[in-house]
Amino acid sequence: NWSMDDFIELQIEKIRETVGNKKVLLGLSGGVDSSVVGVLLHKAIGKQLTSIFVDHGLLRKGEVEQVMDSLKGKFGLNIIQVDAQERFMKKLTGVADPEKKRKIIGNEFIRVFDDEAAKLDGIDFLAQGTLYTDVIESGTDTAQKIKSHHNVGGLPDDVQFQLIEPLRTLFKDEVRELGERLGMPSALVWRQPFPGPGLGIRVIGEITEEKLQIVRDSDYILRDEIAKHGLEREIWQYFTVLPGIRSVGVMGDGRTYDYTVGIRAVTSIDGMTADFAQIPWDVLQEISVRIVDEVAHVNRVVYDITSKPPATIEWE
Ligand code: XMP
Repeated sequence: NWSMDDFIELQIEKIRETVGNKKVLLGLSGGVDSSVVGVLLHKAIGKQLTSIFVDHGLLRKGEVEQVMDSLKGKFGLNIIQVDAQERFMKKLTGVADPEKKRKIIGNEFIRVFDDEAAKLDGIDFLAQGTLYTDVIESGTDTAQKIKSHHNVGGLPDDVQFQLIEPLRTLFKDEVRELGERLGMPSALVWRQPFPGPGLGIRVIGEITEEKLQIVRDSDYILRDEIAKHGLEREIWQYFTVLPGIRSVGVMGDGRTYDYTVGIRAVTSIDGMTADFAQIPWDVLQEISVRIVDEVAHVNRVVYDITSKPPATIEWE
């Protein structure tokens, strides 16, 4: 596709002109947008780009490895991986309210990012994966502020960097096309949306290591089965949640009293409205069997059949 190739060339030229011989910092979230920005910037300015990837312990199974293998291993980006799981867990202990959890995760993220950025010398620019839709939605400065706190990768309030936002004119599908033209693996380019607070809002109520583990493992099985059945691109977002209720089951000769896992899968265009995905029964059955078999402390699986509205996509 030539227009995308033109776009790449033009952006690279523009980035080089703007940056000169200075240094750029990028916050990687593991999502499509920041990853594409990373690869594009690396192509343009190579070693002048430093990326920070904060592992808040609320990422999906295999996500850290996948991002590091591909962006650092394959593309050669200079990435500082920050293992901040304990820092986040400490702050989140005892907190059950969804909005409080969001705020804590968002604020802590900015703090960790700031701490790391402070260790680096002579950074002049901060790159962000802002899309055209973000530009429209934000409109005013206030909205920008709300959104930046809402999302992982948000800016501290006292911004001292100049911003570089090479995706500002693009829609999501164009960003994916760009990623493909840059030779990025489709697992990264076609990644489903993942919220900044991550699995933290998929463990309903207070987060514990055990509950995180259940969500992480069941989510992995769900993703595996969806991929196996070739349904990835038909479903907009799919994940598991742990409502925290326990119920009675039977296993062998014994009675169990264990957790219920919820499956959430929706079709959508932009996440504003959504319908529950009509995953074939036999696929759901396989997923259910595997989750109960393979994930400890789960004896029941339910499927969320509400649309948005009146429900939201996430459970928190
Ligand atoms: P809801 O649950 O509001 O979700 O229907 C709509 C879309 O937004 C994502 N989402 C979030 N993304 N930080 C984010 O970066 C958040 O706090 C957050 N909450 C929901 C959700 O995954 C879905 O794609």
